Amino acid sequence: MKVLVTGGAGYIGVVLCRQIREAGHEPVVLDRLFWGRSPLAGLDATVIRGDIRQLDDRWFEGIDAVCHLGGLSNDPTAEYNTEANRQMNTEATDALVRACKRHGIRRFTFASSASIYDREACSDDAHRSPIMCDEATPVEPRGAYSTSKRRAEELILAQADDTFAPVIFRQGTVYGYSPRMRFDLVVNTFIKDAILARKLFLHGGGWMWRPLVDVRDVARVHVMALTAPLDPIRGQIFNVLEENYQIRQLAMLVTGSLAILKPDWRVEIVEAPAPATVRNYRMSNSKLSNVFDFTPSVTVLESIEDMLRRLPIDFPQEFGNPRYYNIAWMSLLEEVHAEQREFGSIY
Ligand SMILES: NC(=O)c1ccc[n+]([C@@H]2O[C@H](COP(=O)([O-])OP(=O)(O)OC[C@H]3O[C@@H](n4cnc5c(N)ncnc54)[C@H](O)[C@@H]3O)[C@@H](O)[C@H]2O)c1
Repeated sequence: MKVLVTGGAGYIGVVLCRQIREAGHEPVVLDRLFWGRSPLAGLDATVIRGDIRQLDDRWFEGIDAVCHLGGLSNDPTAEYNTEANRQMNTEATDALVRACKRHGIRRFTFASSASIYDREACSDDAHRSPIMCDEATPVEPRGAYSTSKRRAEELILAQADDTFAPVIFRQGTVYGYSPRMRFDLVVNTFIKDAILARKLFLHGGGWMWRPLVDVRDVARVHVMALTAPLDPIRGQIFNVLEENYQIRQLAMLVTGSLAILKPDWRVEIVEAPAPATVRNYRMSNSKLSNVFDFTPSVTVLESIEDMLRRLPIDFPQEFGNPRYYNIAWMSLLEEVHAEQREFGSIY
């Protein structure tokens, strides 16, 4: 099976492409390559450097399935340029779906986000335990990023029919090692802060809840959807998480793991003011477990231990590279590329 992976050179994408290859399929990466080509080193895949807003029919020739991960992937980058965010995350998704239908491509997975469940009503008090959201919970996303993801979901679902069987994965915040590392995701950020600053900052006491999942488990559900029986998954939304955690629990897990590995390091947990907008939500993965017979199982603790083994923790300067922080890198690229107008602005 030949699988087009948009965003295939990103944090989740490179792990997914490797799993697609391991499952005996052929990955085709379609990516702007915001983070460069180096994360794709050693991967046997065709690479198309292109923008999902300017689709080319030739890219779909011979393709059997599409995993759609490309676009802006967090709140700060989406807020930085809300118009680019709308074009990439919503409009390009709609165009991609239409291209799939034109080319007779039935299988389509979409990397949506658990942040869709974040809403004023259940998130205004960090000390309150938020309701457990499932796929039927009404959603009222508030940020540019989560709104663009929800609108994309609606456009995808509107196209589901006998010829097109999309599956939407509402992924929790991802943690874990990838050849294209991100340190702007909570567990990974704590690891970076513990190594670089020997300090972890707990905003508002860190009582807020978040659903979390390891990058390998996220990749696994996309791979499973490539060959799962179509009828139970066609036009369905699935929450994807290993477990819901409170942010302060994550800080304890990181400091505890480091204390074993580096007993002479002193990592301080610093209480910091609550952020202006408190994000606090939990979700259930029982639909995923029931329909796919699969429950993400790589725990935060296992993943922290894996990252501490693989990352250059004795060379803290490595963690300062702006490439690891989406908004820092995008702002830098915007500056550097302002004069080159290969794609218009970097966005
Ligand atoms: N990482 C998480 O915690 C998380 C959680 C929920 C959902 N998601 C979603 O999963 C997907 C992948 O996230 P990630 O963490 O790998 O992010 P990432 O930023 O590492 O990867 C996104 C990739 O998309 C590419 N891209 C961006 N705009 C593009 C465009 N216009 N055309 C072609 N390629 C483009 C980038 O070059 C990058 O390689 C995203 O859709 C994100 O919204 C991520």
